[in-house]
Amino acid sequence: MGGIARTSATGDEGMLGELLAWSSSFAHDRALVREDLVGSAAHVTMLSRTGIVPPEDARALRDALRVLYDEAVAGILDLPGDEEDVHMAVEAELGKRVGAVAGRLHTARSRNDQVALDLRLHVREQGTALLGALGALVASLADRAATETAVLLPAYTHRQRAQPVSAAFVICAWALGLLRAAETVRFTLDRLEMPLGSGACSGTSLPIDRALTARLFAPWPPTRNALHTVGDRDFALDWTWAAARVVLALGRIASDVVDFATSEFGLVKLGGAIAAGSSMMPQKKNPDIFELVRGKSGRAVGNVVALLALMKGLASGYNRDQQEDRLPLLEAGPLASGCARIVSLALPHVTFDAARGAQALAEGFTQATDLAEALVRRGVPFREAYKAVGRLVALAVDDGVALSKIDPARARVVHPMLDVHALAALEPGRAVEAKESLGGTGPRSVAAQIAWLRAQAEDLGAAAAAHGNLDTLAARVFAEPLE
Ligand code: ARG
Repeated sequence: MGGIARTSATGDEGMLGELLAWSSSFAHDRALVREDLVGSAAHVTMLSRTGIVPPEDARALRDALRVLYDEAVAGILDLPGDEEDVHMAVEAELGKRVGAVAGRLHTARSRNDQVALDLRLHVREQGTALLGALGALVASLADRAATETAVLLPAYTHRQRAQPVSAAFVICAWALGLLRAAETVRFTLDRLEMPLGSGACSGTSLPIDRALTARLFAPWPPTRNALHTVGDRDFALDWTWAAARVVLALGRIASDVVDFATSEFGLVKLGGAIAAGSSMMPQKKNPDIFELVRGKSGRAVGNVVALLALMKGLASGYNRDQQEDRLPLLEAGPLASGCARIVSLALPHVTFDAARGAQALAEGFTQATDLAEALVRRGVPFREAYKAVGRLVALAVDDGVALSKIDPARARVVHPMLDVHALAALEPGRAVEAKESLGGTGPRSVAAQIAWLRAQAEDLGAAAAAHGNLDTLAARVFAEPLE
């Protein structure tokens, strides 16, 4: 029976076993043991440098923490399972390994600021990995776009064929959605701060040096108010939101692929390596992987909502309710990173069907706006041109022909300016080439988008590297002089 956080004032008999087990967070926060150990190593380093703990005791403590960290990395660390959380399990284990000196570790510290640190370190670790993966995915989408400039297909509004675009342009749109989501990850990382030294809720009377501790977690500044720090889960809200944004952006790509792969759209083909079959229907080639990416957004959104609901109405300072942040917070990162990984693996096996794209443009009316704009170029007011082309479309529908197959003589009757030169705007390739407005589907515009996306992707990679991963941080902390 654990009893570290217990005194005669609490009650000598201990908490009922079943209540203790039910209220323990250990099953979930044991996943944060590396974060906890790095935090303790940084704390004890600061306690030694400030003279609060004798250097020889600090040395014994930090060496033991280092051994625990290595065991955790190797997956062989065995912690006592009967403590209330990972923080006390680590302290109990240290007690077994180094004896009474373990009693100095918790000087000027509370579990409230420990959990505040561990969760932030988790977000840093997960966020850095996710940012790096998104940078790579955006870069690969930019490269893919550069190879798909000649493939044309309809863009959709209301899921109805709307206007001709290049596949490169569609891929750039996908990449941009991801990039915007990645920016929320970056925002989350950039806002993280170093909470240690807040104590239970109001700091400590001991001469700690929070700036020193914060330097070990650079670029984090120390948090500014102890009461706010221990009650704050803003970073957790930011993180689950960012992770949900990533899954939603990936889900949008997935949704396009699912539609485009149907026989009805027929705009992409799925390679056998990413297709699923049916246990009954022998002909099936299903896009399950993309449906699942789209489906995971339910959990990703649920994590944000769970945290919002948890924090709503909570009084200031630490409340044990906050322990319920664990499941949504810990699920968010692996969920988003997993989806990013799967989409990176699967997309190269999705090929555009250029012939079906061309057919979809040839048989419909997607160049109607381009024809109206051809009239506008000749001085016709847009609304007049729009109505004229609308009449032409109605005639084509009556005749059962595509707009491009309309008899030029009939067109002239609809509007005198609708001559063969104007009708040339109906050629899909020309329609796409002409859309060179900033952000449009024209080839020069798309080339600029691709170049910009590449630069942004590189930026994301650099931002990820600036935060570093937990092992790099651990190496820094364990190497810091104790005197
Ligand atoms: N297990 C707790 C949590 O995860 C750690 C902090 C507990 N603090 C306390 N004062 N009981 O939130």
